[in-house]
Amino acid sequence: MTGIRLTAPAPGWSIDADVVVVGSGVAGLTTALRCAAAGLATVVVTKARLDDGSTRWAQGGIAAALGEGDTPEQHLDDTLVAGAGLCDEAAVRMLVTEGPDAVRRLIGTGAHFDTTESGDIALTREGGHHRRRIAHAGGDATGAEISRALVEAVREAALHTVENALVLDLLTDAEGRTAGVTLHVMGEGQHDGVGAVHAPAVVLATGGMGQVFSATTNPAVSTGDGVALALRAGAEVSDLEFVQFHPTVLFLGAGSEGQQPLVSEAVRGEGAHLVDAAGTRFMLGRHELAELAPRDIVAKAITRRMELLGTEHMYLDARHFGAEMWEQRFPTILAACRAHGIDPVTEPVPVAPAAHYASGGIRTDLRGRTTVPGLYACGEVACTGVHGANRLASNSLLEGLVFAERIAADIVEDRPRAGAAETGDGGEPSPLIAPEARSTIQRIMTRGAGVLRSAESLAAAAEELEALHNSAASAVETGEPKVAVPGVEAWEATNLLLVSRVLVAAARQREETRGCHWREDRPERDDENWRRHLVVRLTPERRPVLCRTKTQAFGPVHPTQAPDCAAAPPTHSADVTEEP
Ligand code: SIN
Repeated sequence: MTGIRLTAPAPGWSIDADVVVVGSGVAGLTTALRCAAAGLATVVVTKARLDDGSTRWAQGGIAAALGEGDTPEQHLDDTLVAGAGLCDEAAVRMLVTEGPDAVRRLIGTGAHFDTTESGDIALTREGGHHRRRIAHAGGDATGAEISRALVEAVREAALHTVENALVLDLLTDAEGRTAGVTLHVMGEGQHDGVGAVHAPAVVLATGGMGQVFSATTNPAVSTGDGVALALRAGAEVSDLEFVQFHPTVLFLGAGSEGQQPLVSEAVRGEGAHLVDAAGTRFMLGRHELAELAPRDIVAKAITRRMELLGTEHMYLDARHFGAEMWEQRFPTILAACRAHGIDPVTEPVPVAPAAHYASGGIRTDLRGRTTVPGLYACGEVACTGVHGANRLASNSLLEGLVFAERIAADIVEDRPRAGAAETGDGGEPSPLIAPEARSTIQRIMTRGAGVLRSAESLAAAAEELEALHNSAASAVETGEPKVAVPGVEAWEATNLLLVSRVLVAAARQREETRGCHWREDRPERDDENWRRHLVVRLTPERRPVLCRTKTQAFGPVHPTQAPDCAAAPPTHSADVTEEP
């Protein structure tokens, strides 16, 4: 335990439960439904409304070997290739073998997937898949349909839900076991202000951290809260340097910030072409799958082409689909494009890469357990070993589903126990940074740690982030009047700064190019030195400690507890230390 927590008022109200699930996407709601069905008192806490998380925005679908002739083995092969040597094969094998039944159970919960004329589940293709294996709903509204079905099931099961609640920190007992969370509720219903949910099992399913960058497909709530909480609680995080940039996000003009509309890979799966302004299909000859190469390859190719031609975007040309196909198969994307004055039926769609998915996250084992007893992580916030250095398209909904079921089974079987939560008075509260720092962090990260990275760009980013970090600390020490007051925006900005610092420390350390981590100064993949995971934890002084390990799996001795693991100095990452 680090004893680090956010500066916040003491809890003014509390709830007791067996399990608290933080997050209401596919991972969170599936875990909660399974725990509640087993008779556990389950509370779901979510940052906005129940259906406001990242799941709802998923377009393409959910990958599983459901089609004739397809097998989990083939799905495994495609996932391992996309993961660029860093997937944990046992985790992937579990995902692809348990996946098809998990999807069938989701259908049993009430999710309606698109079907063929003969009534089978309709399957499409996306980047990196050698087969049609992506199930979709409402054409390109898969996440919205999954979210609808799960939210309805949660309401039917009358689960205790707390909406508009930002989770703050983990509560632990005297032995360091999970004892619940503190949270802040934005004034609705029976809970208001800072409170606590006491529970011996906490499942973090808080989604991603796309808001670390200026342009992202993630909603505004994706501020890395789960990873930041876990780091403060002393948990290990892994592979944070692997941020996936989606190749085709609607280009809304230079300097557009925040959530940008996704143009699903499924559009390419159905035959759309990537072209430059002259109409040249630049993916041909670059990869055997051309536009359907794994998305890191496509994102890099687009970025290189943009650099070469001095433009800010490329185009996705699917005029040959015709109006009927656009309307039936991709109604959400069609509407988003038209809302921005672009008609994909008659003109190519301007697209550019944007931050999309955190392949790394809180390190877990195959039952979703983190390195803190009683704390679980599921979905994008977790690093289960499934994605390696680059997630295969549409594997994320599946991962959320499969690991949610495993976590619920573990909690039901093991029934974690905890003593009374410690008050936390002995811990050092983390100085908050001002809400205005959010856009500064996003600019620093986009410039220094975006699609193109180098030792130089990352060093500059580290220095600027460290200056922000130090200014918050010194404002507190000197009692400066500009010290940020506790509140949602300051807590979010503080979380963004922490995950950015750790991400940059890991990206500086990984001196090679692999998966979605692209170092211009180290353009080759270096298997000898870097077929390793970078595992990070935080010291009580809030400095990242980095260690590299060969496997995602962890045992009783964790790599970052090795005596020779060094903390990152303020503006430079630590030397890499091998696992014990
Ligand atoms: C997409 O539809 O292109 C996104 C799917 C995914 O990120 O898995």
